[in-house]
Formats: sequence, structure tokens, C-alpha cells
Amino acid sequence: LTNGLGVTPPMGWNSWNHFSCNIDEKMIKETADALVTTGLSKLGYKYVNIDDCWAEISRDSKGSLVPKKSTFPSGIKALADYVHSKGLKLGIYSDAGYFTCSKTMPGSLGYEEHDAKTFAEWGIDYLKYDNCNNDGSKPTVRYPVMTRALMKSGRPIFHSLCEWGDMHPALWGSPVGNSWRTTNDIKDTWLSMISIADMNEVYAEHARPGGWNDPDMLEVGNGGMTKEEYIVHFSIWAISKAPLLLGCDIRNMTKETVEIVANKEVIAINQEKESSCRSTRCQAKKVRMEGDLEVWAGPLSGYRVALLLLNRGPSRTLITALWDDIEIPANSIVEARDLWQHKTLKQKFVGNLTATVDSHACKLYILKQSNLLPEIHKERVN
Ligand code: GLA
Repeated sequence: LTNGLGVTPPMGWNSWNHFSCNIDEKMIKETADALVTTGLSKLGYKYVNIDDCWAEISRDSKGSLVPKKSTFPSGIKALADYVHSKGLKLGIYSDAGYFTCSKTMPGSLGYEEHDAKTFAEWGIDYLKYDNCNNDGSKPTVRYPVMTRALMKSGRPIFHSLCEWGDMHPALWGSPVGNSWRTTNDIKDTWLSMISIADMNEVYAEHARPGGWNDPDMLEVGNGGMTKEEYIVHFSIWAISKAPLLLGCDIRNMTKETVEIVANKEVIAINQEKESSCRSTRCQAKKVRMEGDLEVWAGPLSGYRVALLLLNRGPSRTLITALWDDIEIPANSIVEARDLWQHKTLKQKFVGNLTATVDSHACKLYILKQSNLLPEIHKERVN
């Protein structure tokens, strides 16, 4: 969507994965505080996104949504002011239907302009727009109504389409939203996370500055996966140019969780500007699959490549990436930086790179060609 937002994938936090409907303004404020005190906001985590269950079940006499009195007594405007005073942005949630998915609050169907105006008046910066309890008409009809309403609202608001991928929003989302869900809801398990990564990968060609594939929010720090599995989760989301929306309790993160989500080099892959999109592709893809072993690769600026070696199987094993598969010229001499070991490997690589990868774990490298010739440049630019 050409509203100037989402030039790189959004980063921040959302309440749903950890808190579901148990949210209130105190917790949201504490989360904003914690994003700042932990240093995460400086790394780019700016959006504080309230998910479902923030409003009363009925609109007021003017037709406006009413923040739930028992949990958001000060109202959303006051919360937005608070969040903005911390240098952060506030996101909110609604639904292209009569009720949201929790059925505890109204949706925006038929009230798109009214609600978009309310959100803009409150100082909202991001709308997650869900698809539950609708009238049965197509999302391609209902979603653009909200897009137009937001564009008229007088405030730039990131539009996140939460259509779960049923009608392939990657194929029609670009003029409608800044991101679109490509999958059903993530759960805090290895199997859910990895199957969602698969579903999202199919649409890699459709991710662009201004409109990104969204494989749902992060579960890192919620306790259902091992450290190595969470590293796989974060690595794949980063190289897939997915929104990096934390879904844990930011106020109580372990050292291990912080180590994962604050990895600057991994975040930098996700947040590289347009220069990193090659031909028409920004998002990493699977380039080789052999049973449980996979090689993923994505383009980076300066002819560098983000390379992920993934072991989905039950035992430790060797995985090889071939230059042929990852668009590096065969005779290229390559330097590899291991982004989780934070080490540039002493060895230089020609033709391929092989590494030992643990079960349910990955290796993530940035490959840099050290003998990049002008001729190679010419041949590859198009
Ligand atoms: C849907 C969405 C979730 C969350 C819930 C809230 O399931 O996909 O991300 O927003 O609704 O009810």
C-alpha cells in the first residue's frame, strides 16, 4: 500500500500470543516502558499493538467504539499519548465483520470510515484488521473499504490484513495493505511454527517494500520451544522479511529470549532497505530440500546472500549449500559470517559451504564474495 509505511517490515510487540484477552492499560504501558528499558525500541521494536478485546460490546450513541471501562478506563487516546511520549507507536485491532474473533467487541463492517476517523483522532499508528464473523462477502470486497477509510483518515496508519491466507491475500494485498497474513494462527510449538514457515514461503515473490507477507507473530519467549527452535523461528522470520512482532511478556524476558530477539545482525537482514531486493525478490526462499534438510537463501545488498541451513530432523547432521543454488558464481571466493556465533569464519569457501547442524536447529550466515569483479556486477544487474 502506497501510504509511505512499511518500507521495511514492521517491528514491535502485540498482546495476543501471550495475553489473549487478558489485557489492560497498565500492562500495555508497562510493556511500552519495558521496550525502552530493555533497549529493544532502539533496535527497531517500535509498535505496541493492542489485539482483540479492548472495547465494550456496544458502540456509543454516536456509533463510536468504546474502550472497555474496566480495563482501559483512561481511554485509548491517553494510552497513545503515553506510548508516543516514549518514542513508540500504538497499534489497535478491529475486524472486517460484525464482531471480532473473540466476539467480545464489535467489528468495523459498515463503520469503516467512522472507525478509521476515531483511530486517527486517538493517534493510532497501526491497524490489524481481522476477518471473523463477516457477512460472507469476499475479503477482496471488504478489506479495500477500510483501506480507503484509513487513507482518508488524515493520519498514516499501517494496515495489517489478517485474512489468514485463505483467499491468497499475497496475490491481491499489495494495493490494500502494508502486510497480509499468509497462514492460520501460529501456536507456540515447533510443528506449528515450521509448518507456518512453509506456508508463507510459497508467496516469497510477493513481498515488497510497502507490502509484506505475514506468517503471524513471534512466539519467542513463550516457553513452548527450545532455545534452538526459537532461533530457527526468529531466523526464518527475519530472512522472510516477516513483521517482527514480539509475542511474549516483554516485562519478564529471560536472558536467552533477549539474546535471540536482540540479535542486531539478524534484525539487520530483516530491515535492509530496498537495495537488498534482487530482480523482483526481497524475501528468502527454500533453494534445496533433501528430506529433513533444507537450504534457504535470500538476497542482500552488495551481492551478499543470507544463507540458512535448517535441520528439521531428529539427529545432528551435515548440510551443504551449493553456490549454484544460491546465485553465487561458481568460482567465487566467499567469506561467511555466522550470525548466531557472531563470528566471521577464518576459512574461505569456494563452490559450497558445509556445516554440522543440530536437530531442530539452524545455521544462519551472511555470505560475502571477496573477489567480486566488475564483470560479475554487470552480468548480474538487470
Ligand atoms: C484471530 C487472529 C489472531 C488474533 C485473534 C483475536 O484468530 O488471527 O491473530 O488476533 O483472532 O481474537
